Parts: sequence; structure tokens; C-alpha cells
Amino acid sequence: MPGIVIVGVQWGDEGKGKATDLLGDRTDWVVKFNGGNNAGHTVVIGNEKYALHLLPSGILSPGVNAVIGNGVVVDLEVLFAELEALSARGLDISRLKVSANAHLITQYHRTLDKVSERFLGKRQIGTTGRGIGPAYADKINRVGIRVQDLFDENILRQKVEGALDQKNHLLVKVFNRRSITADEIVDDLLSYAERLRPMVCDTGLLLNDALDAGDVVVFEGGQATMLDVDHGTYPFVTSSSATAGGAATGSGVGPNRLDRIVGIVKAYTTRVGSGPFPTELFDENGDFLRSRGFEFGTTTGRPRRVGWYDAPITRYATRINGITDLVLTKLDILTGLDQIPVCVAYDVDGERFDEVPVNQSDFHHAKPILEYFPGWKQDISTARTFDDLPIEAQDYVLALEEMSGTRISVIGVGPSRDAVIVRHDLVD
Ligand code: GDP
Ligand code: IMO
Ligand code: MG
Repeated sequence: MPGIVIVGVQWGDEGKGKATDLLGDRTDWVVKFNGGNNAGHTVVIGNEKYALHLLPSGILSPGVNAVIGNGVVVDLEVLFAELEALSARGLDISRLKVSANAHLITQYHRTLDKVSERFLGKRQIGTTGRGIGPAYADKINRVGIRVQDLFDENILRQKVEGALDQKNHLLVKVFNRRSITADEIVDDLLSYAERLRPMVCDTGLLLNDALDAGDVVVFEGGQATMLDVDHGTYPFVTSSSATAGGAATGSGVGPNRLDRIVGIVKAYTTRVGSGPFPTELFDENGDFLRSRGFEFGTTTGRPRRVGWYDAPITRYATRINGITDLVLTKLDILTGLDQIPVCVAYDVDGERFDEVPVNQSDFHHAKPILEYFPGWKQDISTARTFDDLPIEAQDYVLALEEMSGTRISVIGVGPSRDAVIVRHDLVD
């Protein structure tokens, strides 16, 4: 089973970083295939806590080869800042490879992200402001700058000038900002070129060779199904393919090499930024989940919106991604509740929907139809087998499994690496 994909089921921050890290000692390669430094993965190893944005979480495991795939958008300043910070903490960062085809985030992308959000006013998406959307827009619009362009100054300059042609009009005339010169962008990008050069290669070839050799390759998704540009709550999404299909296009391996699709899902739901969220809580239950679960963004520090578990979303993610195994995280956060509501279907203006409605307007109007499960009071953070869990927690997990249409293979009961219950091995 060499090709394993990790994807978020909900709106991100499900604990994908920890799941990737968990597989670390049996993994040869970890590949980031989408997104950029909009992601925020917190991984706790012993007493050490790491917050990663651009680098794949696999970089924390000794001996693992980390890859930034072609589907990623790379902010070089962030890349080198993260590498230096890890190196200063004694980690080996020499095993990172970067796709020659990955696109770059430049200063004008960051600026455009911020000013266009401001321009949208009430309709704003609540982006992370890292330039993600504008960088992907340039990629699709065929005016993007790629990693390989750094090694041909002439081409780089032509491309930057081409990209700035329209953007400077937009920046000055629409957004009332100063224009940006090609020189400042080119000089900035070139300042990283020689440090980057040894990392750059045809990562698709590298990964296909690794899979041919029988290596275990983990494809680590950023963001999540409901933030996917095609399958999420558009336009309140990120600009990349965060679902399992993105693992193939974003890394250069065929879809038939993806053997196992692991969906990471929280035992409740969170969301950062704008957009529909049927189970969202505005009461003391919401405060309870937010403070107990420490639901504040790793990237922007924003308080995350919180709500109950939404079973139709997991079913939706299971079919969109072809999920074979679920990792249910943060079950420990629910400890202490008398009863635990779960959304089993939606009421949309009086009509029952058992599945996520195809029309976005319906989803905006969806009210959760809740079923209530008995809670438990005992601390579950030291449980290491399913039988260690109180019967109410077992029943809650089994009910979620039944509703989601696929098996729950791993259960998270705490932030640290070892705080998990493994029911089915993810690598076999
Ligand atoms: P990611 O973006 O999907 O990698 O997730 P984040 O790192 O943004 O958010 C998940 C947070 O939950 C991190 O702070 C993790 O350390 C933490 N976490 C992961 N699994 C568990 C769990 O089972 N229990 C608890 N209490 N915390 C967890
Ligand atoms: P991880 O990988 C949660 C959200 C932003 C915003 C929308 C678009 O840690 O799960 P963008 O900057 O990508 O254009 O913002 O997507 N968003 C995330 N929310 N976790 C993330 O990553 C996110 N990455 C982007 O809040 O609503
Ligand atoms: Mg996160």
C-alpha cells in the first residue's frame, strides 16, 4: 500500500499535520500537493510544539524525504524562514525537494489578496491574506511565475513585466495603491535562487521512481474538502484542489497510485473565515468547544467558528475523495458534556435534506436536524485501545462511523503524537 493520501473532511484544522506525523516513522516520502502558507499545522512531539505553514509536516520525522509538489504555491520568504527555524531547532532539513513547476507567490499577490478582500467589504471571504488566491489566479490565467523561472533571468524578467502590466493599472487606478516595478520583484526572487537551486527538480519523476521502488509516499493535503475550489462552499473556499484528486494533479503521479485515502475529521466542526456552516454554535456550547479545543487559527490567530459534528458533510467528503479510512480527532474535547448533538440531516426551508444540498443557497439556509447522544465524564486522554473508552464514547464513535459510510480507523484523544487509538493500521 505505498500511496497514502491525507485529506481534511471539513473546513480545515482537523489535525492533518498530526496524522501525517503519526505515519512518520513508516513513511519514506511526504508530499504537499496543494495550497501554500495559508495552511497551519500544529504538531506536538514530546514537549516540543511545531507550527508549520508551508513545509509538509513529514519534515519533522528523521529520514523522511519532504516534497513540495507542483500544485503548491510557494512564498520563498516563508519557505526559507521555516527552514531556518527548524534547522535552528536541530532538525535535518536537507531532504526537501521542490517542484520546478510550482508557482511562486510574490509581493503583488499578497497585496492584491489584502486589497481585494477590503474591496469586497461585507462579501469578503476572510482569506488568510497570504496571496494564495491571486497566485492561483495567475497560474490559471497563464501569467504565473514558476520556480524554474528563477534560473533564467531573462525569462523571469519578461514574465514579471507581463504580469505587472495589468496589475499595476489595477493597483493604482482601482485600489489606489502604488505601482510595483519589475526590478523590485525580480531582485527579490533572484535573492533566493542559489539557495533554492539544489532543492529544485522534477518531483513527479522522483515520486514515480519512489513508488516503483515500493516506498511509502504520503500525500499531505492542506485545507479540506469543504474549502476545495470545486467541491467546497464556493466562493467561500480556498483556490486549490484540496481533495484527493488534487494529490495526483498536484504531484505528478497517476490516480491509480493512490492506494489509500485517509480523511481527517474532528469530533465536532470548525471553520475559519466566511461562508455557510449549518451546525455553527453561538452559545456557551460554542465557547466550551472553542476554549477546550483551543480553536484559534495557527496561521492568523483568529478565533475559529465552532459547531457540532455534521454527518452529511463526512458522507459527502467520503464520496468526493473516495475515503477508505477516517481519523477521528479531538474526541477528548467532548468529555464533560451531558449529551452530544450530531447533525444527521438538514432542514432547508421546511424540506428535509439527507445529503449536502447541491445549491449553495440551500446550504446557506440549512438548519441542522440533530440527534442526541449521551456524553461521558471520565478523562479519555490516556485511552489507548477502543475498549479503554467509556461505553458512551464508544457508542458515539460507532454512530459516527455508521453515518459516515466508512470505517473510523484511528481516534485522537489528545494533541501529542502517542495520544491515539489505532483500530485499523493505516499502512499495511
Ligand atoms: P491541521 O491544519 O489539519 O493540521 O490542524 P491544526 O494543526 O490547524 O489544528 C489541529 C489542532 O488540534 C492542533 O493544535 C493539534 O495539536 C490538535 N490535535 C490534533 N489531534 C488532537 C486530538 O486528538 N486531541 C486534541 N486535544 N488535540 C488534537
Ligand atoms: P489547514 O491546512 C482553515 C480558509 C480561510 C478562508 C478561505 C480562503 O490548516 O487546514 P485563502 O487564504 O486560502 O485564500 O483563504 O480558506 N483557509 C483555511 N481554514 N484551515 C486552513 O488550512 C485554511 N486555509 C485556508 O480562512 O476562509
Ligand atoms: Mg490548520
